Amino acid sequence: MRQTVVFPSGSVDYIFQSSVEELLKGYEKGQAVIITNEHLFKLYPHLFKLHKTLVLPPVESSKDLRTIDSLSRQLLEAEATRKTTLIGIGGGVVTDITGFLASVYMRGVPFGFVPTTLLGMVDAAIGGKNGVNLGFNKNIVGTINQPEFILYDMAFLQSLPNVEWSNGFAEIIKYACIFDADLFAELEGKNISHYKNDAADLVNLVDRCANWKNTTVIADEHEKGIRKLLNFGHTAAHAIENLYELPHGKAVAIGMVIASMISEKISGLKPTDTHRLKELLELYNLPVHQKVNTYKAMEILKMDKKRNNENVDYIVLEAIGRAAIRSLPLTIIETVFSDYESHN
Ligand SMILES: NC(=O)c1ccc[n+]([C@@H]2O[C@H](COP(=O)([O-])OP(=O)(O)OC[C@H]3O[C@@H](n4cnc5c(N)ncnc54)[C@H](O)[C@@H]3O)[C@@H](O)[C@H]2O)c1
Ligand SMILES: [Zn+2]
Repeated sequence: MRQTVVFPSGSVDYIFQSSVEELLKGYEKGQAVIITNEHLFKLYPHLFKLHKTLVLPPVESSKDLRTIDSLSRQLLEAEATRKTTLIGIGGGVVTDITGFLASVYMRGVPFGFVPTTLLGMVDAAIGGKNGVNLGFNKNIVGTINQPEFILYDMAFLQSLPNVEWSNGFAEIIKYACIFDADLFAELEGKNISHYKNDAADLVNLVDRCANWKNTTVIADEHEKGIRKLLNFGHTAAHAIENLYELPHGKAVAIGMVIASMISEKISGLKPTDTHRLKELLELYNLPVHQKVNTYKAMEILKMDKKRNNENVDYIVLEAIGRAAIRSLPLTIIETVFSDYESHN
């Protein structure tokens, strides 16, 4: 099944429950180059026989400009041209790298994604943001450019480790906090085992979250307004993620707790709602406690892309299911970080 989603900068074909092999067979030899990582290369060797495949180490630290340099050279060596399609098969690290590389190699070549993590399916593969890190600063060099297609094959999730299921639920809980109180309540009544064992519920969940992301990006592809809401939990997350080598989902979980504490001060979120959020995160095996060094985290946060002089655009909750953008002085954020630090 196919569905075309039209974004301001281009249309994306969403291909559901289709076989990746069929897709790959559709490209003649030499017309496609696959980018993946070592885990997937070992787990699904048959997928990588048809086309030239570039294999990355399976770590966030590969998401940097050195990798873009090395992959560009490998593409040139493989005689990839402007007509070669780059296909990223993997989690958010692989798709972010593939999208950025495809946007800059020869000033842009076609590309598509096959997300293989839950987090990739509900978030990272969608929306056209492709970027890499500079040291501790996340996604600081990047582009906004839509892939030609995103292929969903839920069978990949069968090999996904439990911890990566949890990481995916961090972004799912994020959508529930920002937009969807009903989803929040549904998640409270279920757990990871339920979704692992109920294929229909899982497909509905992925679809619902992908729709939240699609509609938000269609309305504001270049993040001038409503798309900023998707950064709920991410300002604090990005300040600690690479500093403490946390997986993205875990950093977002802690970031959402900090954002809720800020929301209690700024936008009248009820303490009982912060409590509900913490319980939900724990139900999905996500952390709510983390040692943080406020000074170090603030140094990274100050470099954040969303900073505007002494203020930072921060996403707060007014209630579960309703978010708002507030321009906050760094001092308020620092106070809450210190408060969090002293309680963890
Ligand atoms: N571009 C965006 O809009 C966007 C949005 C959210 C997150 N991100 C980025 O995405 C990244 C996080 O993505 P992620 O959580 O997918 O992490 P990831 O890509 O690091 O994958 C997590 C782990 O799962 C393994 N894996 C992937 N698929 C598997 C499978 N089917 N079976 C077994 N193992 C598998 C990987 O090898 C890796 O070890 C971060 O860099 C984050 O910044 C980008
Ligand atoms: Zn995220």
